[in-house]
Amino acid sequence: MKNLIFILILLVLWAGCSINENIVVKSPNGKNLISFAIDTTGTPAYSVKHNGKPVITPSLMGFDFKNFPSTGAEMKILNSQVSPFSEEWEMPWGEQRIVKNEYNELVVNLVEVNESGRKLNIYFRAYNDGVAFRYEFPETQKDLIITDENTQFNLTGDHKVWWIPGDWDIYEHLYNTTKFTEIDALSKRWHDALAQSYIPENAVNTPVTMKTEDGLYLSFHEANLTDYAGMTLKIDKENLSMTSELVGSDRFGWKVKRDAPFKTPWRTIQIAEKPGELIESKLIVNLNEPDKIGDVSWFKPMKYMGIWWEMHLGKSSWDMASGKHGATTKNAKAFIDFASQNNIKGLLVEGWNTGWERWIGFEDREGVFDFVTPYPDYDLEEVVSYGREKGVDIIMHHETSAAPRTYDQQLDTAYALMNRLGIHSVKTGYVGKIIPKGEYHHGQWMVNHYRRVLEKGAEYKVAINAHEPIKATGIRRTYPNAISREGLRGQEFNAWSSDGGNPPEHLSIVAFTRMLSGPIDFTPGVFNIKLEPYKKDNQVNTTIAHQLALYVVVYSPIQMACDLVENYEGNRAFQFIRDVGVDWEQTRVLEGEPGDFVIIAREERETGNWFVGGITDENEREATFYTDFLDPAAKYAVTLYKDSENAHWEYNPTEYDIEPLEIKPGEPLTIKMAPGGGFAISFMKR
Ligand code: NOJ
Ligand code: CA
Repeated sequence: MKNLIFILILLVLWAGCSINENIVVKSPNGKNLISFAIDTTGTPAYSVKHNGKPVITPSLMGFDFKNFPSTGAEMKILNSQVSPFSEEWEMPWGEQRIVKNEYNELVVNLVEVNESGRKLNIYFRAYNDGVAFRYEFPETQKDLIITDENTQFNLTGDHKVWWIPGDWDIYEHLYNTTKFTEIDALSKRWHDALAQSYIPENAVNTPVTMKTEDGLYLSFHEANLTDYAGMTLKIDKENLSMTSELVGSDRFGWKVKRDAPFKTPWRTIQIAEKPGELIESKLIVNLNEPDKIGDVSWFKPMKYMGIWWEMHLGKSSWDMASGKHGATTKNAKAFIDFASQNNIKGLLVEGWNTGWERWIGFEDREGVFDFVTPYPDYDLEEVVSYGREKGVDIIMHHETSAAPRTYDQQLDTAYALMNRLGIHSVKTGYVGKIIPKGEYHHGQWMVNHYRRVLEKGAEYKVAINAHEPIKATGIRRTYPNAISREGLRGQEFNAWSSDGGNPPEHLSIVAFTRMLSGPIDFTPGVFNIKLEPYKKDNQVNTTIAHQLALYVVVYSPIQMACDLVENYEGNRAFQFIRDVGVDWEQTRVLEGEPGDFVIIAREERETGNWFVGGITDENEREATFYTDFLDPAAKYAVTLYKDSENAHWEYNPTEYDIEPLEIKPGEPLTIKMAPGGGFAISFMKR
């Protein structure tokens, strides 16, 4: 009887918050279902189920404008259509060659029932690996000014969440693991290792990943962020709900200004029964438009070294006035010599151009860098041609010091120089608060700047690796020259962060959060874990075997071997960095759990060699997996790089063992990982 009353109450509640007409669309495998309806107040509402169980309960949708009444109430459905879609497309480089893009789409055409008669369309896509939706303002309207997007995501419980704060200016925060109701983004304000940070409220940045009580994995993000503001998600603990909170502009006092008609970015929810499926999911890139830039054969995925880590260690400096300038012709040639002997095809040189005396700590940073004038002890042309002789490409460096207007003005000159020298990739940087004042790194104005850079890059055959970037939203499908980016706490924090650097669990969370959005320039490969003699109070909080594993765990078509030449010379573990691929035919996530561990196998394009990387958090762990990914007809020379018996990220991080393995394709392997450790295996075809 009690149960019956309870069910009746539930039914009454449900009827109260919904649902006149209910339109549904299912994923091709039938597991994910989106329902759409207009609720009793006339507000659009969607909900999501997986295997018949709610994932998102009815959640409202709408917008506030500066120059028009809000949209969201008093709407009715004019029309709706469901249609299937299926295609395969090829990544020029990537985690895999062929991507299947298969979904069912529901388009709902809405109209306001009041005298305005305004229209709004919503596109829903149900994929096997999640769901997505976007809004379209279909009517011609100049200067539509959005002050708020009010998209709700109502959750079904107090999920476990891996989150970083909804910072409008930087993503370089440590991940936190808490219950949804324990998210406290405001406690992450004023981090002293961040050059800029603005956390206006209790919100999280995306991708944000969750685990439900039923063991389902969800990750919330956005795709195709174009001419719009980045989205954070505001936390409502009481109602277990999140609402879109767009990054604003203090200069203008709004979030987005557009001429309609236009479509918003996609709001995405990846849904997985096993956590590895989140990593394998291609939902984010699939929601982007096909390649727009044509032939990209001028860029090749590569491993690279850099005149870089030495600055973060304080061994040398970017600027010349310090008396220990790192970017000299001589130093660059020494790196080129080592790289050319070790299957490393690129060299990044930071601090090559004048201006570094004024790059941070100044309010007025416009015009500091011109991106064409080298310091007198660096002969750019000579370094480039020396590299060319030895098969090592120079990677250009453009630190804008967050003065994007200066960069905009210089783009043509800077990229024309690169083009003339045959330099095809650049690492950009945006350290500091954005000038003009009142803009944030993740607002619409900067989103458009980052896009202009990609477009200009495409024009001049330049590929972009942006640091302090806008988040990845799958744009690399449309602009493959968006090769990689930072947008997380990278390796550099281990060199100088006052909080002791990245904890051992860092990458086991990153793999299931930040990495879902796209390639990461994490810059792995530190062998001198204790950073001696440069940094007494810092170290890298992993073992060497863990560092090796990152070449497989982390995906990027450019992968740095970041340590100094002297730390690689004579170290037998370096053989793995020499051998490991950077461009993949396919990827399999073998095992993993966010925050604990992850094991990934990737097959190199062209060679058919396989590489496996496994990492663990601060706990030691035994990993068991099957090698059924190997080609049963092939023979492989197999080498295992693993933590020594007594290795430990803190006490004994540099001890490893290298063992040849005799293994038949399909056989299982069991490997022990030390606390903060990992392992790497190369399967080289014979
Ligand atoms: C911050 C970048 O993340 C880092 O890699 C670079 O060395 C400095 N900016 C200087 O541009
Ligand atoms: Ca950075």
